Amino acid sequence: MCGIVGYIGKEQAAPILLDGLSKLEYRGYDSAGIAVFNGTSIEMTKSTGKLKILEELTQGGATLPGNMGIGHTRWATHGSPSDINAHPHFNKEHSIAIVHNGIIENYQKLKKHMEKRGYEFLSETDTEVLAHMLDYYYNGDPVETITKVMHRVEGSYGLGIMFLDQPDCLYAARKDSPLIVGQSDKGNFIASDVPAVLKYTREVYYIQNEEIACLKNDSITFFNIDKEEIEKELTTIEWDVAAAEKGGYEFFMLKEIYEQPKAVRDTLNPRIKGNDIVIEELGMTDEDIRAVRKIYLVACGSAYHTCVAAKYVFEGLARIPVEVDLASEFRYRKPIFEEGAMAVIVSQSGETADSLAALREAKNNGVRTLGIVNVVGSSIAREADNVIYTWAGPEIAVATTKGYSTQLIAHYLLAVKFARVRGTISAKEMTEMVEALKCLPEQIEFLLANKERIQKFANRYLATEHVFFIGRGIDYAISLEGSLKLKEISYIHSEAYAAGELKHGTISLIEEGTLVTAVLTQDDLYQKSISNVQEVRTRGAFVLAVTNTGHTEVEKSADYVIYIPQTNKYFTPSLAVIPLQLFGYYISLGRGLDVDKPRNLAKSVTVE
Ligand code: M6R
Repeated sequence: MCGIVGYIGKEQAAPILLDGLSKLEYRGYDSAGIAVFNGTSIEMTKSTGKLKILEELTQGGATLPGNMGIGHTRWATHGSPSDINAHPHFNKEHSIAIVHNGIIENYQKLKKHMEKRGYEFLSETDTEVLAHMLDYYYNGDPVETITKVMHRVEGSYGLGIMFLDQPDCLYAARKDSPLIVGQSDKGNFIASDVPAVLKYTREVYYIQNEEIACLKNDSITFFNIDKEEIEKELTTIEWDVAAAEKGGYEFFMLKEIYEQPKAVRDTLNPRIKGNDIVIEELGMTDEDIRAVRKIYLVACGSAYHTCVAAKYVFEGLARIPVEVDLASEFRYRKPIFEEGAMAVIVSQSGETADSLAALREAKNNGVRTLGIVNVVGSSIAREADNVIYTWAGPEIAVATTKGYSTQLIAHYLLAVKFARVRGTISAKEMTEMVEALKCLPEQIEFLLANKERIQKFANRYLATEHVFFIGRGIDYAISLEGSLKLKEISYIHSEAYAAGELKHGTISLIEEGTLVTAVLTQDDLYQKSISNVQEVRTRGAFVLAVTNTGHTEVEKSADYVIYIPQTNKYFTPSLAVIPLQLFGYYISLGRGLDVDKPRNLAKSVTVE
């Protein structure tokens, strides 16, 4: 999604803005722009395409001198990617400049109002209406003006604003779109995400909903929507720039694939005490856990796939009924919440608009909410009743890998904990499961050390057009993720099917040479899945099988077999997903694509 950076201080603003925007490139964008106050006017350069073009146009920022500025990378929602639609946007006199992340839902109505008042619109964006509204309400008091606009717009926004007659102050405001303020000796910053400012400072404030910030060279003041000054707590970011840089890897995705053993360890270890699982941040007593009657697992994309896997784990171990929902469906389907229901919202970014809305839907209905979130201080983390952080560190590649893996760990910890408290597993079983969990990081390392076989295989399939992923039970959940990983970064059409469904339609698509990836990690379903492998193979499919070490029987039916180490049957997704992630990665790499920034996709989907 779009990225925002703003700076006010002693340094030249433009190079800082360009540098900050480059740290947000991973979010996905199609145009970029910066505006800088040069002492007499606000000058702007913007352009469609990559940030490199903007850097060239501004000679690395040299053509836009000045110590206060705002910058933006745009991911088109309202209006095509074009120079005119790129941010910043201005009022007619060029005395107010604005950058915006989010969506103004009532902009059509507001635009008509403003047109009636004589305002002319140059772009197709929803953002431009904000520039004209600020102009209309401006009375020399920026905070009052901004609150007037905030009261009138519906939707989500993170805003950076400059007023020509306020040369010593940069303004920011937010609602439902992330925005932080960074503080340093050399000046102050705004950004839609921490990596944009990490090179300059680790001291940040999180702007909350309906709050406004006024940044000067050496001070920062915050206001609520009632224009009252408010105090905010400074947070120190613990992770460093290196964690968000590529560190010698060609792409962030590969780096993040390799960070999975550490990320899994970091998520697991603090919650394992001897043979017990202690999740202090869960905020539930044993009595609370026993009172749970139903769990809703809600998320989008890969996070949703972890929920599909977790349903098998929760129901299998803790015997609690689970409903799994795509957040975009959940928020509108009016679920029938019963006494004792609990909603777990899973999100790497903690800012996914649909997941946030689903969380609010559950909360508004009196349902206990738990967030499984990676980004500390993100909206879902703040709004959920309780939050379990996945300690994956910053994830930059659009295709999630370590985010997914650590979400699985959070689910396992919860399910095993719930099962033990509810007495559906014995102390001995729990000890065995804890031991199995502790082995996962090393087992992932082992799979990564043997990546060449997958790389070799992927290189043979660079030109393939369709791939099917099949599996039964939890293997179906793994197939969903394998399929998404492949399609999102390689642009190859791929689909995941519950293997038993093949005969109900899909098998007609199988022809000579069609690649089918079969996941077979569940002993009780192994023979049935082998039959499905045979069905597709006799129709000409080429079969790549992923199964447990020792399960050699599949070699008779599959063309290529990848073995994963033995683990508890509920934890196999953590291992089986590794070759599938590598497969997607090497196919994308081999096709010469931008692995980290696939077309049309954004890292964090902060709009509906
Ligand atoms: O930040 P979130 O976990 O809420 O994001 C959810 C999905 O947008 C995300 O998992 C997406 O599907 C990834 N691109 C998949 O790799």
